[in-house]
Amino acid sequence: MSCEERIDDLLAQMSLAEKVGQMRQISGTDEGYKELIRQGAAGSFLNILGEQAREYQRLAVEESRLGIPLIFGRDVIHGFRTVFPIPLGQAATFDPEIAREGARIAAREAAAFGINWTLAPMVDIARDPRWGRIAEGGGEDPYLAACMGAAMVEGFQGEDLADPERIAACAKHYVGYGAAEGGRDYDATWIPEGLLRDVYLVPFHACVQAGVATLMSAFNDLNGVPASGNAFTLRQILKGEWVFDGFVVSDWNSIIEMIPHGFAADEKEAALKGVMVGVDMEMVSTSYAEHIEALIEEGALPIELIDEAVRRILRIKFRLGLFENPYYEQERQAVVLCDEHLEAARKAARESCVLLKNDGLLPLNNELDRLAVVGPLADAGRDQLGCWVFDGRDEESRTPLQALREVLGEEKVVYAPGLENCRSADESMIPQAVGAAREAEAVVAFLGEDAGLSGEAHCRAFLDLPGAQQQLVDALAETGRPLVAVIMTGRPLTLEPVIEKVGALLLAWHPGTMGGPAIVDLLFGVESPSGRLPATLPRTVGQVPIYYNRKNTGRPPRDDVPSIPTGTPLDPQGFTAKHLDVDHGPLFPFGYGLSYTTFEYTDLQLSAQQLKMGETLTAAVTVTNTGGAKAVEVVQLYVRDLVGSVTRPVRELKGFQRIALEPGESRQVLFELHTDDLAFHNIDMERVTEPGGFRLWIGSHSQSGLQGEFEVMD
Ligand code: BGC
Repeated sequence: MSCEERIDDLLAQMSLAEKVGQMRQISGTDEGYKELIRQGAAGSFLNILGEQAREYQRLAVEESRLGIPLIFGRDVIHGFRTVFPIPLGQAATFDPEIAREGARIAAREAAAFGINWTLAPMVDIARDPRWGRIAEGGGEDPYLAACMGAAMVEGFQGEDLADPERIAACAKHYVGYGAAEGGRDYDATWIPEGLLRDVYLVPFHACVQAGVATLMSAFNDLNGVPASGNAFTLRQILKGEWVFDGFVVSDWNSIIEMIPHGFAADEKEAALKGVMVGVDMEMVSTSYAEHIEALIEEGALPIELIDEAVRRILRIKFRLGLFENPYYEQERQAVVLCDEHLEAARKAARESCVLLKNDGLLPLNNELDRLAVVGPLADAGRDQLGCWVFDGRDEESRTPLQALREVLGEEKVVYAPGLENCRSADESMIPQAVGAAREAEAVVAFLGEDAGLSGEAHCRAFLDLPGAQQQLVDALAETGRPLVAVIMTGRPLTLEPVIEKVGALLLAWHPGTMGGPAIVDLLFGVESPSGRLPATLPRTVGQVPIYYNRKNTGRPPRDDVPSIPTGTPLDPQGFTAKHLDVDHGPLFPFGYGLSYTTFEYTDLQLSAQQLKMGETLTAAVTVTNTGGAKAVEVVQLYVRDLVGSVTRPVRELKGFQRIALEPGESRQVLFELHTDDLAFHNIDMERVTEPGGFRLWIGSHSQSGLQGEFEVMD
């Protein structure tokens, strides 16, 4: 029997109550849940694993009438026990292989504890670093986020969901959640349809094309209609246009939150709206369980919609092989934190670090006699794991302090944190850190945000270093000792006052379990940094939102207007789209990152000056390592559509490649660009490539590159 025939067969035997049961997801454990499982009144559980999950599964399979297995979900976001860098850090690698491998390893570890389904990847585009959940996604750019999200889906799911080392993925939060007004989590979003289709939907579509098993409907009000009651995005686009055949789960209570949204009068109406638009499973709240049967009896809800929802849920359960193998295999738990996983996490953390400044201080000489290690994040096992870590353990983290002691020897490392923790305003320990710095040949300061400052509901109005960290930096700088800052963070920060005071700055995000050894590899030049910014770094929070693929406006700011110190009012030089009191550009643009060498771009060649619709352009450039260290360059391709029937962004990322070059080595890098890659949604919401002139750049970030032009002919 085919999967669909098996579903038909099962649906024919199910009572309405059993069907509704499949649509219910419960969180946690409770004695009373056992009876619900026996009755077939629950389809999924969240936040339970191991023996407890086995027991619940046994009840479902052996003691419920039809023996339909449960599906166990969990937020396995950037690792299970082996924690990888936060997804934003993974995006900074510009290396989808890293994301694929991280997800494969997370799936392998989680599956061994009975998890069948992760609530990841989060592919919400985030243009506002105040939003705490920017940490969980692929950053500001739809192309990069799509590449990373699709790779994660492939890594979690593999070729065959029934493989005992793979789990189902869930692309979330559908859709627009990252555009919360003011960067406040859960706040309203207003996204015109063209922007929705060209930016916010892009990574979701990529996940669907990669075969993602499930999607999660978001909390936000999208253009006046909550995302969990949104027929346009769920029925029309996801299930209609994209022909998605998996299931949609709501976010936590997001069905009944349509009541405070002012979109449903009560839970019954919320359930009606949720089912009507195609939210197949309700997470935590119980409006489906309590009201669907009555809604069917009253004729308000057609039974076909229930059958469709249940069919989708059963389809994923069949694909996961749960009917054949409902239980996890405990022996597989041996892979947790194995050397292979730790090595992969170390590589990911190393590739995720972005070098933002280096006046020659890095790499450090590992023969130095005395290194001062300061800052609240030098030895903070929990904080380096970042947000959304349920299973990683503090004591399993390898911290920078431990790694530095290993490399240099205990006696050569003087440790003085300077502050109790990241948010501490108590400056009484700073003199001790200054003393340690004075005695050392060099100082490395581990600064930034603790894990609790980003993630869900953890938004910030300020983007500077919290607590008295700036005072610590200033005091260390006063000593005149060579000073390196390593910043661990869940979001882009306003780092100008730090950059000014240090000789080198490495942005390490929250790097995960192996953050310490990975950072130390880079500090001593075992490898050259190769991360690039997946989100723009603003100079000041007042510039937010600031992102590279913006519109030009009728009065674009001029690059010849000199840069001014943040906060100093400038006599307006022309009436252009900028602030008076800060340079119009970001502190560092999207795509930016240094290494221990220099790269030169020469010889841009386009295969044609003119392109017919349907043809492919090949753009080639030669990249040369002109410095003294072996390093990876992330070669980036950007395009601008010069004139459109709707205005087009000043640049859009269309390709990237990581290439490793020895000193003196040159390589030709080729990019292919099909006319379809230039498409966007016009005013009638048709996806079109319009004939006309295009500019193209190949370079090392979103504000650089060799420039060429070509034309698309009708
Ligand atoms: C979050 C989701 C998460 C869910 C389950 C919600 O609060 O928004 O991203 O998957 O909780 O933990």
